[in-house]
Amino acid sequence: MIPITKPYFDEDEIKALKECLDSGWVTQGPMTERFENLFKEEHHCEYAVSVSSCTAALHIALLALGISAGDEVIVPAFTWITSASCVEYVGGTVRFVDVETETMNIAPERLEEAITSKTKAIIAVHLFGCPARMDEIMWIAKKYNLYVVEDCACAIGTTYKGRKVGTIGDIGCFSFHPRKAITTGEGGICSTDDEALYYKMLQYKNHGLNSVKKDEDYGKPYYMGIYDEVGYNLRLSDIQAAVGIAQFKKLHLLLEDRKRCAEYYLERLKGCLDVILPIVPNEFGHTYQSFVILVKSGDRGVRNQIMIEMQQQGIQTRPGTIAIVRTEYNRKKYGLAEGECPVAEFCEDASLTLPIYPFMQPDEQNRVLQLVCKAFM
Ligand SMILES: Cc1ncc(COP(=O)(O)O)c(C=O)c1O
Repeated sequence: MIPITKPYFDEDEIKALKECLDSGWVTQGPMTERFENLFKEEHHCEYAVSVSSCTAALHIALLALGISAGDEVIVPAFTWITSASCVEYVGGTVRFVDVETETMNIAPERLEEAITSKTKAIIAVHLFGCPARMDEIMWIAKKYNLYVVEDCACAIGTTYKGRKVGTIGDIGCFSFHPRKAITTGEGGICSTDDEALYYKMLQYKNHGLNSVKKDEDYGKPYYMGIYDEVGYNLRLSDIQAAVGIAQFKKLHLLLEDRKRCAEYYLERLKGCLDVILPIVPNEFGHTYQSFVILVKSGDRGVRNQIMIEMQQQGIQTRPGTIAIVRTEYNRKKYGLAEGECPVAEFCEDASLTLPIYPFMQPDEQNRVLQLVCKAFM
C-alpha cells in the first residue's frame, strides 16, 4: 500500500521521549517550553503558545481577539471544517467567501462584498501549504480595521514573498497532526508578536488562569492563582512536545524532500491536459503539505472512479478538502444553497490528493503517476 502520507521518525524521537519519561514530568513543562522556543526561533516571532491542536489554536485566537456573539468572521469556503467551527465556538457568525482555482485559497477580490459593519476578522487559510494572497488580504483588513488570523494548519515553513506565514496577520495557528510536515501526534501552536494577545491565549488554554495578575498570596504554598475568565484545558503535553522537539530539528530536511517529490510530480504531469496542477507564482513558497490536482472537467464521478481504481491498486488518495458551504450544519444554519460558492464546490468535486511524504521513492511515485496518466489518456 502507498499511503497518502507517512510521518518520518528516527532515533531522535525515541531519545527525546525517553528523556521526557525519565524526567517524570509529562504534562506541559520544560519540553513544551523548549518546543515553543524552537518555534519562535524558526519564525522570528515574539510569542508562541503550544496547544493540543490547530483547532484549539483557532479557538483561543478568536477568544483572545474578543470575537463573540453578533460578530462576523470571514472564512474561505474551501477548507477544513474547523476554520469555520472555531467561529461557532465563540458564538460568532461565519461569512463564507469563495476561493480562486489557482491557489484554492480565498479570492481577495471577493472579500469586500462580504464585509459588513459587524465584520471583525478574516481567517486566511494557507491551504495545502500554499500561501494565501496576503498583500491583498492585509490591505483590505487595514482598510476596514479587521483582525487577520492565519490558519497555517497545513503550512509550517510556507513563505509568502519571503515572509514566513503565521507572522503576517495578528495570530498564526499551526497544526502538528500526522498529515502535516512535522507531527506531535496531535498538537498545535499559536504565534503572535502582540503581548496582550499572548497572555490572553495562555489564559484561555489553561483553565482561565490569569498569568499576569497575581495577588498578595502569590508565592505562598497554598496559592492557586486568579481565574477571571472561563478557560479550557487545551494544553500540549511534554510527551508530545518531546516528539515535536525531535521533529523540529528535521523540519528543513523534511520540507526539502517533500518539495523534491512535488517537483517530480509536477514535471511528469505537465503534459496531462485534463488536470489542473498546483502551479503557483514563484514568490509563493509552497511547501506541499498535500499535492492536490484538479480534474479539469469538475466531474465528481470521474474523480471518484479514479480514486476507486487507485485504491484497488494499493494507492491511497483523498479529495482535497471540504466545500464547507455544503456541510449540513452550515447549510441549515446559514440557509445556503448549492451554487453559493461555485469555485469551492468545483474544488471539492474535482480535487484529488496524491500520496506525498518525505523520502518517497521514485518507483512509488511512478506507480502513482502511471495510474493518474492512464486515467486521463
Ligand atoms: C486548513 C486547516 N485548518 C485547521 C485544521 C485543524 O487542525 P488540527 O487537526 O490540528 O485541529 C486542519 C486540519 O487538517 C486544516 O487542514
